[in-house]
Amino acid sequence: MEVADLRVWFPVTGGILRRTTGWVHAVDGVSFEIRRGETLGLVGESGSGKTTVGRTIVRIIEPREGAIRLDGMDLLALRGSALRRQRRRFQMVFQDPYASLDPRQTVGDTLAEPLRTHDLATGPARSGRIAELLRLVGLDPAFVNRYPHEFSGGQRQRIGIARALAVEPELIVCDEPISALDVSIQAQVINLLEHLQREFGLTYLFIAHDLAVVRHIADRVAVMYLGKLVELASSDALYSRPLHPYSVALLSAVPVPDAAAERSRRRIILQGDIPSPSSPPSGCRFHTRCWLRERLGNPEVCVSTEPPLTAPEPAQPDHAVACHFVPELTRMARPDDVVAATTPANPA
Ligand SMILES: Nc1ncnc2c1ncn2[C@@H]1O[C@H](COP(=O)(O)OP(=O)(O)O)[C@@H](O)[C@H]1O
Ligand code: SF4
Ligand SMILES: [Mg+2]
Repeated sequence: MEVADLRVWFPVTGGILRRTTGWVHAVDGVSFEIRRGETLGLVGESGSGKTTVGRTIVRIIEPREGAIRLDGMDLLALRGSALRRQRRRFQMVFQDPYASLDPRQTVGDTLAEPLRTHDLATGPARSGRIAELLRLVGLDPAFVNRYPHEFSGGQRQRIGIARALAVEPELIVCDEPISALDVSIQAQVINLLEHLQREFGLTYLFIAHDLAVVRHIADRVAVMYLGKLVELASSDALYSRPLHPYSVALLSAVPVPDAAAERSRRRIILQGDIPSPSSPPSGCRFHTRCWLRERLGNPEVCVSTEPPLTAPEPAQPDHAVACHFVPELTRMARPDDVVAATTPANPA
């Protein structure tokens, strides 16, 4: 799937006439591809536009601009039955397993709905298919007549996964599927998703708000800040050598397994909140919080000009960074240098 220059804005309305007074630039020119069978992680702070990207890809939201192509086919041009047929190929697992299930529907009804919509497993085959789906996600098929309130958070998320699987999709957008769950059961749900991916050859867009969660599950990672991608890299490259100052800060918040390294780990704490997406900063959107810019003497270009996503030199496969100072970043050889860069050399 190829996503090109995607823009999704939401109107801000005001006054008694509910006139549009501005726009929330939730997604503001985002391009990337998702390869068959891979897991692409999409990471960024809350409010950066991750969910909006996911919802647009599965066609819950219409973008204002941009293209979404699948094997060359323009998905945004589809209407009616052609759209319905294609929609089946993309499903979503939602962040909040409590809000995403209808409390008045039994598990069986919840799973029957997508089958009915897409005319799958008709007649007596349907209850067999529902039992199979429950087994696939590790739930007892005897639970079929129970209601959502009778399940734990982890079990509800399994029901959400079964609902997504019901129509035999190719791509599943997993929108922070474990962040509302107890830490003790998060790994089980990740393991289930990985198992299902292998079994059915699924492709995942896996959304998370920190880099710790996607580390093991993602093949490549896209880092998003305020409606834009700031870095795109293979997991190996991103975790061993993040380049964008925002990615470096995000990674510095992730604990490391080695005890000695963990004791000496120093976090880069970003100053200030994420700015409002209804009036994003000019130039590089990260300039109001960028520690590298300060170190470089606050160059004007960061405020005046938007940095495009470019490959670092020497070019590494699949690596792209949106910063005017990629050579400077590349020259900082080790993460320690980066941390040193945030600490004034001479406090006096
Ligand atoms: N339906 C909507 N109407 C208006 N604003 C929205 C809507 N959905 C999301 N937004 C805004 O768009 C921005 C991006 O939101 P979202 O995609 O949910 O980010 P994330 O998933 O990264 O937290 C936020 O500022 C959010 O408030
Ligand atoms: S372009 Fe400037 S503000 Fe943006 S990340 Fe690079 S150094 Fe920081
Ligand atoms: Mg979200």
